[in-house]
This record gives sequence, structure tokens and C-alpha cells, in this order.
Amino acid sequence: DPNGMVNILGKLEELFGLAIKQAFPEVKDFQVVVVSTTPNFGDYQFNGAMSLSKVLKTLGKSLNPRDVATAVQKSVPANEVIETLDLAGPGFINIKLKASFVQEQLSLLVMRGVRPPCGVEKKRVMVDFSSPNIAKEMHVGHLRSTIIGDSICRLLEFLGHEVLRINHVGDWGTQFGMLLAHLEDRFPNFAEETPPIGDLQSFYKESKIRFDSDADFKKRAYACVVKLQSHDPVYIKGWQAICDVSRREFQKIYDRLDIKIKERGESFYQDLMKKTVQLLEEAGVLIEDEGRKVMFAPNIAVPLTVVKSDGGYTYDTSDMAAIRQRVHDESADWVIYVVDMGQSGHFETIFACAEVAGWLDRKKTRVEHVGFGVVLGEDRKKFKSRSSETVRLVDLLDEGLRRAKEKLIEKERDKVLTPEELESAQQAVAYGCIKYSDLAHNRIADYVFSFDKMLEDKGNTAVYLLYAYTRIRSIARTANVTDEQIKKAVADGIPLSHDKEMKLAKLLLRFPETIVRLTFDLCLHPLCEFLYEVSTAFTEFYDVCYCVEKDRTTGQIVKINMDRMALCEATANVMAQCFSLLGLKPVQKM
Ligand code: ARG
Repeated sequence: DPNGMVNILGKLEELFGLAIKQAFPEVKDFQVVVVSTTPNFGDYQFNGAMSLSKVLKTLGKSLNPRDVATAVQKSVPANEVIETLDLAGPGFINIKLKASFVQEQLSLLVMRGVRPPCGVEKKRVMVDFSSPNIAKEMHVGHLRSTIIGDSICRLLEFLGHEVLRINHVGDWGTQFGMLLAHLEDRFPNFAEETPPIGDLQSFYKESKIRFDSDADFKKRAYACVVKLQSHDPVYIKGWQAICDVSRREFQKIYDRLDIKIKERGESFYQDLMKKTVQLLEEAGVLIEDEGRKVMFAPNIAVPLTVVKSDGGYTYDTSDMAAIRQRVHDESADWVIYVVDMGQSGHFETIFACAEVAGWLDRKKTRVEHVGFGVVLGEDRKKFKSRSSETVRLVDLLDEGLRRAKEKLIEKERDKVLTPEELESAQQAVAYGCIKYSDLAHNRIADYVFSFDKMLEDKGNTAVYLLYAYTRIRSIARTANVTDEQIKKAVADGIPLSHDKEMKLAKLLLRFPETIVRLTFDLCLHPLCEFLYEVSTAFTEFYDVCYCVEKDRTTGQIVKINMDRMALCEATANVMAQCFSLLGLKPVQKM
């Protein structure tokens, strides 16, 4: 979108890339990095002179970093963006933005609203996330995958990519043997009429107990898997019935959390798995190992089990089939797997084996495992509830709602909000804080789940930010000015004469570069940091810059500063877009 927002940092890197080419044409493929800094170091900084000087040395040119920086500085082409370039220290170049450029970009932001950054190359992306297992409880690990995966999709969609949201549910595993055998006994009529399974969890537990204790049952369970996998219509019906119960349960969670995802589970790959095995067989990469057929990737000790000794397929087989389907049949440019870190070995092997098989060229297709750490309780041990080993997600969401309500009542919001407004606020806070506290942490690390922490109203929390947002929104409402009036008043530009105004404006304009950078490693916490920084900068601005002046005695509004109103609106709009990328639903009143 050529009318998108300017990625300033990207633009600066472009300019410095040109400068380096001009100053040192002998240097090839130098990775130009510009970073944003605090205003006392300029707004941005180029600190590549040191490494550039090293590269030059290898090319037989001896120049100290400061001389390198001077040469680069002189070669930066004429542009509309940069006010000054100052040399500092051993060879840093501090970059200060032109005020006129900032004013112009801020006006565009106010007049056109928040838009995706321009200059993003569109890709076809498949995001495999959430992916719980049928009949087993959807647990906190799946919750993390759901939250992180959804946010990644929202980000990529906003950037203009074509995104396929895939739920790779475990619906074809051996657990169906015992489930079907148990179904035969409990609801012998299951092929004719839909069995009223009710609570699938206890159904699963019952069949598991029988499977572990009853040898005959176990035998029958194995026979059931064979019947299912050979597509016996009766057993397909039973399987379908079990999946439906699970599907409805999962959907309730997705609805509550506002998650859109398309189910394409392991069973989708039934026929492709046969073909996959055949192709690997023909390529001569399968090795016999005690009756199994395994596949090794170079330099990885543990092989994939592609065919079990009984001829059955595994999780590995379905992922080999899936990666081929995604890269080859779907022509995805980018495939993302949002799955806990415990499976990083699995994905590393799958990717490497797909390369060996010739199905994947990682120079052309970006495939990556987006891993995340485990969820811990406040005691830093495995997260569980008081009464049982695992925490049911429904219970967790219910507790979130309960605690959010408590919090709102503690703040006496029930006295000022209508019951409907209170309920919206309750949901925004409950689901918002669960999502936000997950996304605000570096996903790689283990994560301590604490309602107390996430519901704090100070610091970088959803509650604080949602409040900050409603407060900003209420400024224009209280002053009784509309968006249209603000736009009309500032159509000729916004001067940004106070330094706090300028600081806030520059920060808001860092939105595009911030979200583009998220795509480098798909860690989302920098977006949360940005959001928090925006709300802090807003507070600093609002503390010293009057937006609305009131008469001290009558309390009547005597003057409205429309330029500042525009800054308030721009801030709220940027924050709203960040919330949307994080899957949070802010409310207008809270
Ligand atoms: N169902 C798996 C689990 O619960 C996750 C599947 C992730 N996706 C994949 N393509 N392997 O562990």
C-alpha cells in the first residue's frame, strides 16, 4: 500500500545503505542496522561504523571507525527525513529527524488513521497454532499457542499478508482405539444414532482405565484403530461423533477468546501420509529399524518414525505429510508452527528431513517453529489447580471473569457504569489480562501465571493500559468535540511546538517500524513494550500540556486546544491498533 504509514527506521536504513554503497563501493551485502534511541542521542542511531571498519580491513583498507562514520555521514543522500547527523564517541552517528517531516507524518496519521506500513512484500503464510488433541483436555500449553498464534495471525493480516489459520488438531492418533472400543460397549447403537457422550473427559478417563487394566479391551482397541484407519464406515461414524463433542468444547473457548481458526487436523492427511511414505521409500531415505521405518536428518541423533512396526503412521508421518502439503500443494511462502518448546527437536527434524526429501528449500520458503516456554504456577512449579493435576481452560476463563469483576467493583466502577458496560469491561479485563500477560513476556521463557499480577492496575499490564486508553478517549468526549471537528481544525498541520508533544508524536510514528520488526523473530513482547511506552509518553504530555482549559470557579470549558486534541486521538488510535494486534478488545468506558 503506497498510502501506508512510512516505516521511518526502514527508510533510514535505506538511506544509510545508499551512503555505504557510495562511500565504500567495494563492500558487498553489508547489513545496515539503525536503532531508535532516546532524544538526547538524536532520535535514531547508526552504529555500524565499527563493524564496517572491520569489513574494510579484510578488504585491505585500514580506516578507524570514526573516519568510516565520517565518510558514511558525508554520503547520505539528500532527503526529507533527516535534520542533522552528529558524530559521537568512537564512530556512532546520531540521527535527528526533521521537525517538518514529523509534523507532516503526524498530520497524515491524524487525517488518515492508523494504516499498515508501506513497502511490505506480500506473502502467503500458513500459521499452525492452538492444535489441541481430540478427547484430551485442552490445556494451558494450548492456551499459550492459541494466544500467541492468534496475535501472530493478526499481525501478519494487518501487514497485508495472506494468512491461513490452521488448527492441526490431534484427531487421528491411537487414542481413538480405546475411545471407539469403549463407545462400542457404552453405546452399541452408535452407528445408527448419535451417541450422547456428554462429558468427553470422563469418557476418556473411563476408556483409559480399561485400556490399562483389561488385556482383552486393549486388543479390541487396537482392532478399532485398524478399522478406523481402513475407513470402516461404522467406525468413521463413531470417530466423527467423538470429534464433534470435542470440537464443540474447543469452539466455546475460541468464541470466548474471539479466535478464528480453521480445523485441519491430522486426519486431513490420511491419504497424503500413504503418498508421503511412498515418496520417501522411492527416494531411498527410509531405514529399517526393528520393524519400524525411520528417517534420519543430517547431524540429528533421533530419527523420525515414519512407519511403526504394525504398519501404522505416527505424529511424525502426519507432520511430514503436512509440510509437503503446505510447501508444495499450497505453495506457502512461509509456514509457522506455534507449539511449545518441548517439541523443538521434533520440528528441527521435520524441517531437516523435508529438505533431505527435496520438498523444502529454506532459501525460498521460510519455515519456523515459534516455540514457547511452559506455564508455571505462582510456586514456580507446574501449573495445576488445587483439586486436580491439570487446569481446565473453561475454569481458568471463568476465574478470570470472576476476578475481573471483583477488581472493577473494588474500583467502584459498578457505580458509574451501566450493567452492560460493566459486563463489557469485565470481559475486556478478564480475557485481555490473560492474553496480555502471556504476550508481554518473552515467549521463549517459562511463564508464571498469576491472576494477582496480571490484574494489577500499575505497570505494564492490560488493566493499566485499558484504563489509560479509556481515559484518553474520554478527553474528546468530555470536551464534546468530534473526530470530524478535530480533523477539520488541524487540516493545515500540527505545529508540535512543545517538546512533550514532539516526543509523543515521534513515538507514535515508530508504530510501523515496531510492527515490521516483530516479523523478524515473531516475538510479540516488543509490541507490548511499545504500547506501554506510548501510554507513558502520553501521561508526560498530558501532565504539562493543557488540552482543555476550564474556568477555575465555574468548571466551564473556556478553551480547547485542537492540535493537542488531535494528538490525543492519534494516541488512542495507535493504542487501539496495538490492542487489536494483541487480540484485546478495549472498551470506550471502564
Ligand atoms: N496436537 C499437538 C499437541 O498437542 C500439537 C500439534 C502442533 N502442530 C503440528 N503440526 N505438529 O502436542
